[in-house]
Amino acid sequence: MWRKIQSDWPAYLLSLLVVLVILVKATTNHQEQIIVSIDSTWHPPSLYLDPIKNKEERELVLYGKELIANTSTYLGPKGSVMQISNGMNCQNCHLDAGTRPDANNYSAVSANYPLFRERSGKTESIYKRVSDCFERSLNGTAPDSNSREYQAIHAYIQWLGKDVAKGTHPKGSGIKRPDYLQRAADPEKGKKVYAIHCERCHGANGEGQLNLDNTGYSYPPLWGKHSYNTGAGLYRLSNFAGFIQSNMPFNEVTAHNKLTDEEAWDIAAYVNSQPRPSMKALHDWPDMHKKPIDHPFGPYADSFSEQQHKYGPFLPILIARQKH
Ligand code: HEC
Ligand code: HEC
Repeated sequence: MWRKIQSDWPAYLLSLLVVLVILVKATTNHQEQIIVSIDSTWHPPSLYLDPIKNKEERELVLYGKELIANTSTYLGPKGSVMQISNGMNCQNCHLDAGTRPDANNYSAVSANYPLFRERSGKTESIYKRVSDCFERSLNGTAPDSNSREYQAIHAYIQWLGKDVAKGTHPKGSGIKRPDYLQRAADPEKGKKVYAIHCERCHGANGEGQLNLDNTGYSYPPLWGKHSYNTGAGLYRLSNFAGFIQSNMPFNEVTAHNKLTDEEAWDIAAYVNSQPRPSMKALHDWPDMHKKPIDHPFGPYADSFSEQQHKYGPFLPILIARQKH
């Protein structure tokens, strides 16, 4: 046998090559199929397949991505560039540097801003929107619009959305909110579910866990003085419940084990009933009729209490609103 292989080696080599080519072809075809089948969900541009040719622009975009992923290293309480935020990273709530589906990604930003937003009653630039997250979610102050840091964040967000058609929202952008419950969300029930599903990473007091060199968090805080403030998007129960139902426990969610609607609402009620920095956002929602039904601060255009606007039940509010 060995002698035969030795004498026929060119033929064997050839057949080995043929098999290899077929294998490679089969796997690449397979990959193409996979890409086609998930294609309706947005995926970010690739620096490898679609490189940014201008060196300065590329460096700016990469710095922007780095600032989103590791905000605290540069801009946190011990930030190397400025100390203007609470130690959290943008990426804590905009997963994978704002690219993950159903994880509050940035795919729709460049295609939709400047955008009229009811929260401010004004047409907002990307700068205004980014500043809002610095002031509310990171309970800090925004970098100047001329700073290299803001310019980098802007360049990154613009680049991420460069292939998205104006005015459209790709599938998987923003937060997917769960259905309303018939009852009010219940902080007591939420506390029990929190202990089972969340405490091991975010801590019994929601304090999170600092990284080894104390420059930021391995597990970000959910309440207390280092967390987002009462003006933040996550302080609304529907945003919180939607974000965690799709994404928490971190990197462990599948279609089969995700939190039920009840669990998500109850945990949201528990976490957002705990102490956190307050923000007096007195000018938010200047048109009362446009306030989201789960905005927890009055005055309201209806007669439901702040308590009910915070925890629900939301259906009666929704029905009353639809009648008007
Ligand atoms: C604590 C969580 C949290 C952190 C941290 C956070 N954000 Fe946000 N961000 C949100 C939520 C929630 C929304 C959506 C709010 C809404 O629609 O009411 C949002 C929305 C945005 C939007 C608009 C997205 C869109 O599709 O319209 C931008 C841009 C943004 N954030 C940028 C940032 C930047 C930049 C940082 C870091 C400086 C940051 N965010 C940090 C929670 C967070
Ligand atoms: C395995 C550890 C782990 C578990 C368990 C876990 N998380 Fe997280 N969570 C994380 C990490 C890590 C991040 C930040 C992700 C990033 O920066 O990429 C995060 C981010 C968050 C955020 C946004 C940032 C913030 O601090 O506000 C919220 C809200 C959150 N988790 C809530 C929950 C809830 C509620 C549960 C339970 C249902 C839970 N998490 C379970 C690890 C975990």
